[in-house]
Amino acid sequence: MNDIRKLALDKILVAPSILAADFARLGEEINRVADAGCDLLHLDVMDGHFVPNLTIGPPLISSIRKISSLVFDTHLMISDPLKYAEIFIKAGADHITFHLESDNDPGAVIDAVRAAGATVGISLKPKTPAEKLFPWLDKIDLVLIMTVEPGFGGQSFMADMMPKVKAVHEQICRIGRPVHLEVDGGIDGRNVAEAAAAGANMMVAGTSVFRNPAGAASAIAELHAAAKYLPCN
Ligand code: DX5
Ligand code: ZN
Repeated sequence: MNDIRKLALDKILVAPSILAADFARLGEEINRVADAGCDLLHLDVMDGHFVPNLTIGPPLISSIRKISSLVFDTHLMISDPLKYAEIFIKAGADHITFHLESDNDPGAVIDAVRAAGATVGISLKPKTPAEKLFPWLDKIDLVLIMTVEPGFGGQSFMADMMPKVKAVHEQICRIGRPVHLEVDGGIDGRNVAEAAAAGANMMVAGTSVFRNPAGAASAIAELHAAAKYLPCN
């Protein structure tokens, strides 16, 4: 199985979000970003309840699992991750990130994801403070800080989330565990350096990769080149 823990923690990783892809040609689109040098693939799942939008579900993931060996970084923007995590893992999700603001007990979701054989992350919406996450940090493989309100692609990057990214980075360094720090929403070649300087090592990018007029390879190369990994000190 693909394992997010095998991806470097001391390098900038780019995770294109398929939300910005042309769904009529989804297989080709995924191969296009894989060939263009992305590090993993970000899958945005929305339930029309936790967020005011509906996107993809397990059947789509099992279809694309057949054509891609990329790590599937699955972002569940749903109210009841406890009920659905295992279904997504069975469909081919390698990694599950759920929201701390969901209806479930985080410990129960973490246990369910691990029991189903995947790695696990927790995401925070913009208004949720970093400290709420700290009790769970020694049990997870990834933290996802939203840099837009979840629900839609193509929104503007919230630079005011950088202190929160920094606070999480410092806490990860303090506990000394291997935890990826991912940012999601409005990331492009202009702001990626700022996110990396705050301590993020994993960059979700939908619009700026799939819809870049210069092409995906140049978009991904630009993200890799602009951002510098921040070590613990
Ligand atoms: C927003 C999603 C993001 C988003 C990223 O709710 O979680 O992954 O689609 O897309 P861009 O890069 O277009 O903001
Ligand atoms: Zn996402």
